[in-house]
Formats: sequence, C-alpha cells, structure tokens
Amino acid sequence: TPIRLHDYRRPAWTVDTIELDVDLGIDATDITSRLTLRHGGTQTTPLRLDGEGLELLAISLDGHPLDPSHYRHEDNVLEVDGARDGSVLETRVRVKPAANTTLEGLYLSGSRETGFLLTQCEAEGFRHITFFPDRPDVLARYTVTLLADRARFPVLLAGGNPDGTGELAEGRHWARFVDTHPKPSYLFALVAGRLENIQRDYITANGRAVKLVMWSEANVIDRCHYALDALERSMRWDERTYGRNYDLDVFHVVATHDFNMGAMENKGLNIFNAKYLLADPDSSTDEEYRAVEAVVAHEYFHNWTGNRVTCRDWFQLSLKEGLTVFREQQFSADMNSPSLKRIEDVSLLRRTQFPEDAGPLAHPVRPSEYREINNFYTATVYEKGSELVRMLAGRLGQEGFRRGMDVYFERHDGSAATIEDFLSALGDANGIDLMPYLAWYAQAGTPHLHAQGEYDAARRQYTLTLSQHTRATPGQPEKVPVPIPVKLSLFDRDGRVLPLHINGHAAGTEAVVVVDMASQHVVFHDVATEPVPSLLRDFSAPVVLEYDYSPAELALLLTNDADGFNRWEAGQQLAVLAFDSLHGNAETDACKAWCDALTALFEHHAIDDALLADLLTPPGEIEFADRQSEVDPAKIHAQRQELQRHLAKRIGAPALLARYRALASHTSQSLDAESQARRRLKRRVLELLALLDADTAHALAAQQYESAVGMTDRLTALGVLVRDRAPQAAAALADFRRRYADNPLALDKWFAVQAQVPGEPALATVKSLESDPAFTLKNPNRARAVLGAFASNNPSGFHRADGEGYRWLTERLAELDALNPQIAARLATAFNGWQRLEPVRREVAHAALGELAQRQGLSRNLGEIIGNVLQR
Ligand code: ARG
Ligand code: ZN
Repeated sequence: TPIRLHDYRRPAWTVDTIELDVDLGIDATDITSRLTLRHGGTQTTPLRLDGEGLELLAISLDGHPLDPSHYRHEDNVLEVDGARDGSVLETRVRVKPAANTTLEGLYLSGSRETGFLLTQCEAEGFRHITFFPDRPDVLARYTVTLLADRARFPVLLAGGNPDGTGELAEGRHWARFVDTHPKPSYLFALVAGRLENIQRDYITANGRAVKLVMWSEANVIDRCHYALDALERSMRWDERTYGRNYDLDVFHVVATHDFNMGAMENKGLNIFNAKYLLADPDSSTDEEYRAVEAVVAHEYFHNWTGNRVTCRDWFQLSLKEGLTVFREQQFSADMNSPSLKRIEDVSLLRRTQFPEDAGPLAHPVRPSEYREINNFYTATVYEKGSELVRMLAGRLGQEGFRRGMDVYFERHDGSAATIEDFLSALGDANGIDLMPYLAWYAQAGTPHLHAQGEYDAARRQYTLTLSQHTRATPGQPEKVPVPIPVKLSLFDRDGRVLPLHINGHAAGTEAVVVVDMASQHVVFHDVATEPVPSLLRDFSAPVVLEYDYSPAELALLLTNDADGFNRWEAGQQLAVLAFDSLHGNAETDACKAWCDALTALFEHHAIDDALLADLLTPPGEIEFADRQSEVDPAKIHAQRQELQRHLAKRIGAPALLARYRALASHTSQSLDAESQARRRLKRRVLELLALLDADTAHALAAQQYESAVGMTDRLTALGVLVRDRAPQAAAALADFRRRYADNPLALDKWFAVQAQVPGEPALATVKSLESDPAFTLKNPNRARAVLGAFASNNPSGFHRADGEGYRWLTERLAELDALNPQIAARLATAFNGWQRLEPVRREVAHAALGELAQRQGLSRNLGEIIGNVLQR
C-alpha cells in the first residue's frame, strides 16, 4: 500500500539526543545507540522504531536489559513497551558492510583490502544502521564515536565538530564528533578507511574559522583542487547573495567511486560520487568541470536549504531540492554565462522532465503518494521544482525574494518545514499572496500555453490571446489553471524592439503578463506595425508554448532578439518547423529559413562561439519524440541527421573546414569562457563537417585525437570516429582504453561513447562491452555508462523493432535489481513513453515489460516503476 501525503501525522515519539558508538569492521560492524526519547502526545502511543536488516545483539531501557516479552522486532519495526518521556533506550546491533551491495546504509567502497567504509542515509538508509524513528521531522543532536583498527582505518570521520581522538588496546583507536545542530537521521554520515586529504582555512563573513577538507583515495587526491576552489566560491557566494554563513568548524567532503546518486549533503560531511568531485584537464571535459562546480555548490547550499531548514516529510522533497537546484543555477549563472546556463538547464528540463510529465510516471512536484521514496528523486522534483522557485523569485524581484528567504530562514531554522511554509514566508515578507502557486506543486503535467496575436492596423492595437491547457495525467483527470508568468517583448518587421503600452501604461520594452485563467487577452496600444512577439523570454515558465510562428518570424527573432535564451529558442522552434517539413531531400521554406539564418550568424562572427555552437544544434531526438504520438526512433534519428546535413551543406564544406582550422589553431587548454567556447564550436563544426565530407572529418578527428592535450578535444574526436564507425575508430578506442586503464571515470566514457553509437548495431556493441573484464553491474557509474547510455541516451539503438533491445535491458534489470534496487529502478525509467511508440515497437516493449513484471521477488523500487510504467 502506498504512503500518502494526506495521512501525515506528527511523530508521537521524537529523540532529543543520540549517542552512537560504531565499532567498525569490513565484514561486521557493531553499533551501539543510546536514544533520549521525548513523547509528544498526551495519550501513550507505543514506541515504534524503524530498523531493517539489523541483527539485534542487546537492548535495554533506562539501564535495564529488556526481556524479549517487552519488545517485538518484526516487519522492519521494533516496538518497545514501557518507554516514558525522557527514557533512554540502548540498543546494540550488527550490520554487514561488505555484503551490502545496495549502497544504502553502511557499505564498502572498493576492495576488501584497500577500500573504505561509508554511509548513505537519504532517504531511509539510517534504519539500516540502527533503530530510530527514521523520518525527517525527528531532529536530534548527534554524538558519534568511531572505533576501529588504526592500520586498516587510519581516518575516521563523522558529521559535526571533532571532539577528541585516542588510542585503544591492540592497535585500535577512536574519534568522536559532536554535531551542535539538531538534524534528521538522513543527514547522518560516517567515513572510515585509508584516505588522503587536501585542505584550506576559510573565515566566514561572520568570522568563523573553518577547515575545508577534501578527502579521497591517495591516487586521485591531486584531482580535488578544482572542487576545493569551487567550494570556496560557493561559500562566498552564499554569504554575498543570501547572507548565509557556514556553521561548523570543519567541512569535510569525501569522494567515492561507489555511489547511487550525484552527491549527498550530510551535515559537515558531504559525500560525492567521484564523477562530481574529481577534475583534471587530462580526464575531465569542460562540461564535467562545470558539473563539478555545480554539484559542489548544490551540496554546500543544502546546508541552509535542506539541513538548517529541512523537510517535514518526503512529500516536501522539492522544498529542499527544487530550491537548492535554483540556488545552484543562480550561482552557476553568476560564475559563467547566464544565457548559456539557461539554455543548458532548459534543455535538460525538456530532455528529462517534459517526457516524465507527459507519460505514465508523471507526478506533481509535491507527489501525493509513493511506495518507494527513492523513486521520487526525479527531474520533476528537482528541475521542475527549480522552475517553480524561479517563477516565485521572478514574481518578487531580486530584493523581494531575498527578503522572503530571510523570513523563511528566520521562521524555520532548526525545524522541518512544508511547501506551504515556504510560500507563506516569501509571501508574507512581501505582502503578496503566493498560495495560487500551490497549484503548480500539486498538479502534474506540463501546461501548454497557446498564444495568438491579432493586429488592428486602424486602431494601432495588438491583442494577444493567451490560453492554457494541461492534459490529464495518471490519477489526475481534471486540471486547473496555474499562474503562468509570460515575459514578453514585441519586435517590428525590421527586428527592432518596440516600446510597450499596456492598459495605458508605458511598460518599457519588456513586460511580464501573468496568465492565471484558462484564457485571457492582453491589449497593446500604439503599435505602429504588425509585431512579432518574443514570448516566454528567458523561459519564464515551464510550459510548452504554442504560437503559430512563420519561418520568417522565427528567423527574425533568431537574428535580432536581444534575449540570448530566446534567440536560441527561436532557432530551436525553427529547427522543429524544418524537421517537420522534411520529406526526402527537397528543401522546404522552413529548412531554408533555418539554414540561411544560421549560415548568416556563422559567417558574421558577431556572436559568441559557445552560443553559436548551441544555435547550430537542433533539439535532440528525445525532444522530437516528445512531440509525436507514434514514435519511430530510427526515423527520428535519420530525419534529424538529414536536417543537420542540410545545414552543413548550406554553410558549405570549405567554410566549415576553414572555421575548424581557425579554431584548432588555438591550443590553450585554459578553462576560461573563451577557450571553452572555442572547443564547443570546434566540436560542432567537426560534427557538421562529418555529415558532408566524412573522410576529411575523420582524418581531422584522428589528428585531433592524437594531438589533444585535454579530455574535451580527445573525447570529441573519439566520439566522431566511433559514432561514424570510421576506420580510425578502433585505434583510437584501443589507445583510450590503454591510456585510462586505471581511471574508472575516464573508462566510463569509453564504455558510454560506444553504447551510444546510433542504430541497430548498438546492441551487439553493448553485448560485447558487457563481457569486457572491466564491466560490472555492481558499480553504478559503470552500469549507467553501459545500460543508461544505451537505453536512455541512444533511442535509435535501444528501440529496435525486433524488441531485442528491450529484452536485453529487462534481463539486466532483473540481475541488477538483486544487487542494487535503486539503480535498477532508475534505469528502468528508460521504458517511460513506450505507449507512444509506433505499434510494432509498442507491442514488443509491452511484452518485455510484462515478462519483467511477472518475475518473483522484484524490489519495491523496481516493482513500483514497472507497475506504473505498465498500468497507467
Ligand atoms: N540529497 C541529495 C542531493 O540532491 C540526493 C541524495 C538522494 N539519494 C537517494 N538515494 N535517494 O544532493
Ligand atoms: Zn540536492
């Protein structure tokens, strides 16, 4: 039975303090816990604690060992008789870290001989470590003592401030940590093993001396410097932007290769998937550097949005995740180019969240029910959640939003809050009722915003009719209108922006109209000629805009819009028109308009290299598929290639070659914006050239591979060769494999680049990768590099008409599910959207899914995803 938001009850029992003594061992770890209990209600409810997979060794209440008749341990609940307000419950349990393949609770990263122990508790991992009311609204003060063999576990870390270390008999030692801030159990963490560190002293704006320490295994510690710099930038930014200071004496960050997600914001002891912490020019691409900076910032920002103010229950997950993604996006925009960041984020939203919202897995940003909460760390909760915060911030303006955040922190510091609390704080601080935005949190599905313009030349009036519609989603047949802020400008037919007069007021050249009814009109006065509207600028709301632009109008915006984002967006819309108009080789008006406008931008050098690279990239295959009702991924792939070939032809091989040479003559490996932009454009130009003159492009790629100094250039070249199955591909792959034999993150790229080769042969490639000695399902990054790259990032490879791709994946998922249910469930979302496949594929997909659903013993994680994907 699912857990429902409506069933929320305050906890009857809470915990004031918890003392943990953890006696660490690879095979067996013993955990002693002393809980000081607080009873909330008036009538006594029995004490019930969560606990899963725990071997109970001892239990006592208020100093007296408990007779087995006074407690029951079944169905992952420990029920204890006789507890009173203020009672102390002591338990001792044993867990088996090395046998734990779920990477939840306490587990081993790496080998038994050299690996280290660590924990992952969010969302419900703490119950795999000790008995506890494992829910985020129980905030306790933690004292943690780690005890271990010194030679095997020289480094002992837990969240909070260090509070002493010492020697014990037989070569053992201990270390204690006290966290002064009450926290929910999901923020508990410990790490123990052989680790190296780099560190830096930091003084917060309000004068606290803090040690910032990055930890990793010895062979990669040199690759932690970039993350340490990024951490310092994040801390300064949060002080400047939100007045938020760090609040402990130490801030530890640990890198592991064995991690289910990106990273985790445990109080004072962040733990990172190495992919988002390690960076060096030889093994990281420019994109990966940006991702490291973003994730370091994200986890750091959680210290206030998540840790100091946490979530009342897991339905409120977006309260911390959406808000923290938004803060990270602001930070990254400040550190890099705002419009490039916006393009990247909106692309991600369209690639991941829009399909989620449009299919059987659709759920509100604040879900109303779930079976397995780990299945709800989704693009909807994170990315759409961030878009909702962005709309609120836009509504309040920079100062108003800051004022609102101050009130939010003031009211809820040290407690567990709800989405309503957040909206009230922001609204109250500004005298505005933001509750209408609650509908956005409660309603699944992407609203479609339909816009239509009418020009009355005689009255010099332009009327824009804006209407919204959200399609039914599983469990939500009826939808209500939501407030949609539409940022807009008007352009004349020469591409000049027009002054706006709305309702008799001059509104500058840009205005925001909030559409909160099913349909409404906006009238612009004093409009000299029939305008071209630039709508939803900077993507002011997470909706699908429907406006019947002509190719010429989009070309005009693409050339003239000053809003960098909308300029790109006009290009994307034009590419969609061009794509839809393609039938065979004949060039259509839309295709011509797209090619001409981009060719002009390409030739005039009047635009930033990175933006140009993005403009030259049409929407991805997943975005095209999202717009169709009978999806044939092979056809979409071919048609998108054809579209790009038209563009390449229009620009011309000589121009592409000349630009490639000019860009390649810069050899700087610096990370500054200009160098990154050059590499990005160089890649795009090479990819376009490969569509026209494969031999030349492959020769250049092989040369670029040989001479590359950094990973961006090397991986681009490898990608072009491998994707085209060029004759030079095998040698490059062999070289890459040799070069990075000891670098798992780089090796993941070697796997992924092959798993992503489009078309039918991909499955055979994937099967050969699977038998590679370096392949394992036990490591999530490696599993994602093959299964995820193939099933989620290679539509034309995965969606074979014979269904072999589906059958291969379901086999692997069943196998993976027995090891790591979280990852199995995550990878299974590749089946989202199968109902909209063309009939042949739909039927074989259905059969494969049905077969998987029939299997005995599926985890709750995978069972929920497969069940939802199939039935809704
Ligand atoms: N709170 C983490 C973050 O977004 C994500 C951890 C989620 N882990 C999980 N197993 N569900 O930074
Ligand atoms: Zn987060």
